[in-house]
Formats: sequence, structure tokens, C-alpha cells
Amino acid sequence: MRWTWVRSIRGKARRLGPEPTDAALLAALAWQVELGADEAISDTPVDRFAASAPTPSTPATSATPAQPRAPDGAAQARADARHGSGVPTPESPPDTHTLAESANSLAELAEAMKSWDGTPLKATAKNFVFSDGHTGSRLMVVGEAPGADEDRIGRPFVGRAGQLLDKMLAAIGQSRTDEDPAKSVYIANILPWRPPGNRTPSEQEVQSYLPFMERHIQLAKPEVIFAVGNTSVKALLNTQTGIKRLRGNWHRHPRLDLPVMPSFHPAYLLRQAQDKRLAWRDLLALRAVLDGENT
Ligand code: URA
Repeated sequence: MRWTWVRSIRGKARRLGPEPTDAALLAALAWQVELGADEAISDTPVDRFAASAPTPSTPATSATPAQPRAPDGAAQARADARHGSGVPTPESPPDTHTLAESANSLAELAEAMKSWDGTPLKATAKNFVFSDGHTGSRLMVVGEAPGADEDRIGRPFVGRAGQLLDKMLAAIGQSRTDEDPAKSVYIANILPWRPPGNRTPSEQEVQSYLPFMERHIQLAKPEVIFAVGNTSVKALLNTQTGIKRLRGNWHRHPRLDLPVMPSFHPAYLLRQAQDKRLAWRDLLALRAVLDGENT
């Protein structure tokens, strides 16, 4: 559950009486925590008492008919993001195919993705997360979406799952900090914004961002893709088949004609350590192809 700062509690308390004491504010905050609020989603408070209060009456001479109150835009965006509706805003942002195709460099692509307003994810995320590692790497890892750590820092795979991913890659001699294209790795996610509460991205969000990812791959020019987790694998291979059936075998990207090795997401491996041995097989297959074996 999410909440919007103690100042909104202060606003509420003021309406009910004189300036509240710190103890009263702390009690109000503790009450929200007790209800399950565990995350702040905005730097500015939303005073929902004000939002629902009647508007001052218009002068009798005014000919303007009363308008229904529109929901607060930011609050609506947050509600949409929570429910994954991904409903386009009334201004109808440009379609992502056109935007992606017009990007001629990774910098231009990042700019286009960052400015695209077609989903409300931006309203709840702290940072835009584009990529990490080295462009020009023969190997590209594609994940799902930033989590809380990535959102805070602005780089993909920096939390616990990312640390495991680094270890997995190191076990086959690859590293995001190595500058040698043969040994380095380039890392990105299907979504550049964190879905609120780390929920799974909606199908609509994935389909919206997919043209960006395909352009991302074209511009980064890897030779091999390591796709981790269901969201990434299903999106890249345009399939509904799950990761357990797909992993361990080489697939070809349907439009970019590149080899893709699907594998478990490191976050899943943190929970299901018994499947690490299968992931290790996938990594060895990856190593073999990087060493020149055919897919
Ligand atoms: N999970 C992902 O898929 N990507 C990240 O960047 C972090 C966690």
C-alpha cells in the first residue's frame, strides 16, 4: 500500500482542530503504517479532504454552468499505474514504433523513451533506468523492469538480483565493468520505469515499450541475447510459452534475427536455489556460443 507524506496528515489534522502536536502526527503516521502503507509515492502531499470539499459557490450573475470536478491528475496517474491500466492520456502520445525508429543513437533513444508519456509509470518512478555495462559488447542481457534499488540509483540490476546476475556472468568470464567487448556485457530492461510496488508489468506496458527495446538492441548491436525471466522472454520471442519450457534452448529473435537464450530471472533463482543448476547449463550454452559454437 502507498501513502503520500506526513504533511497530508498534517493538513487533515488541521481541518479537525488546532495545529497538531508532533506526537499526534506520529500517531497518525503509525496508523497509516499499521494499515499497511509502506512506501511514499510523492514529494508533495495530496490533500484529499480539499479535493472532496465543495468548491466556493460562483456568483449568481455567472452564466458559467457548474463543471464536475476532474480527478487530480497526479492522483489519477498513480491510480492507473497501480492497476496497470496503461490507458493513454487524452493528448494521445506518439506511438512508440515511430519514436523508436526515429532514434539514431542510444542517446536519442534514451531521450525518446524518457519523454514518452504513454503510460503513467513515470508518475510513480523516481528515476529513468536505461542501461548499464558497455555498448559494443557481444553479449546483451535483457531483464524485466527496475526494482526499488534500480529505481533509486537509476541503473539496471543493482539490487540483490543484480548482484547474483553479476556472479552468474562472472562465472562465464563476462562482466559489465570490463571494457573488452568480448568480455563485457550490456544490460537493459524491457521497461525503463519501475512499476509501482514491483508489480509485474502489464501486457499493455510491455507492448508499448517493446519497439523501444527492439531499437535498443539494433543500436547496441550485440551478437547474442541472454533474456532473463518470463516478461523479457515472452516479449522478445513474441510467445505465451513460459520460461520453464523455453529455457535451455536457443531461439531466434523473430524480427532481429539474433540468437536468444532464455533463462531464469536471478530474482527467481534467489527464491528457488534448486534451479540454479539449470541456469548454470544456460550459462554454459551461452559461453559456448560466445566461443564460436553454432546455436
Ligand atoms: N529485475 C529486473 O528485471 N531488472 C532490474 O533491473 C532489476 C530487477
